[in-house]
Amino acid sequence: MTNNPAPRFHHAGKSTQDLLDAQRVLKVIGLKKGDTFLDAGSGSGYLSVAASEIVGSEGRVYAVDVDKPSIDALKREIDERGIQNLTAIVTDITAKTPLASESIDICLMANALHGFVENNEVEGVLKEISRVLKPGATLAVVEFKKLENIPGPPFPVKLSPEQVTAIIAPYRYRQKEVTEVGAYHYAVTFVKE
Ligand SMILES: C[S@@+](CC[C@H](N)C(=O)[O-])C[C@H]1O[C@@H](n2cnc3c(N)ncnc32)[C@H](O)[C@@H]1O
Repeated sequence: MTNNPAPRFHHAGKSTQDLLDAQRVLKVIGLKKGDTFLDAGSGSGYLSVAASEIVGSEGRVYAVDVDKPSIDALKREIDERGIQNLTAIVTDITAKTPLASESIDICLMANALHGFVENNEVEGVLKEISRVLKPGATLAVVEFKKLENIPGPPFPVKLSPEQVTAIIAPYRYRQKEVTEVGAYHYAVTFVKE
């Protein structure tokens, strides 16, 4: 009998750009001019590009993803569009990243938490996000609604807002609100205590 490890949940290279209105998501989670914003598991970075317009020249956006092709494509877009305030980094968010401690006002994890749950990586991700967020900062989780026959991961992998809160709150986050952000998505916002 072979003792193979459990297969990993593959979420690299997937994008929700066709399903979500970036401006709507970023408004709901409270992103504003001058903020330092982290897009954790950015994929193609369409949310980061929209965020760079909101935070403006006094703000900063970091798009981080472990998938090099996604970050390389985003770097090309940054160059082509001359975006000055967006930095794209290939890094594993489940371990220590190059980001400075207590430097981030607002972190968005969009359509990534379910994958971290499946791969037993929640503790590593939350530890690193907690290190880089300022005290009192916002952590926002966007996930597919837990419904059958809609886009997204298989039904058993989809998370309800209650499951998201049960996963995040023990890492010393207080839930603020749950808001619908699209036909297939909701956002849960938390404050770092
Ligand atoms: C389903 S995609 C979502 C991408 C984007 N946030 C969106 O909503 O379109 C999940 C992303 O998380 C990234 N990811 C998975 N594990 C990661 C890790 N350990 N560190 C950084 N990014 C990771 C994947 O490469 C993928 O781009």
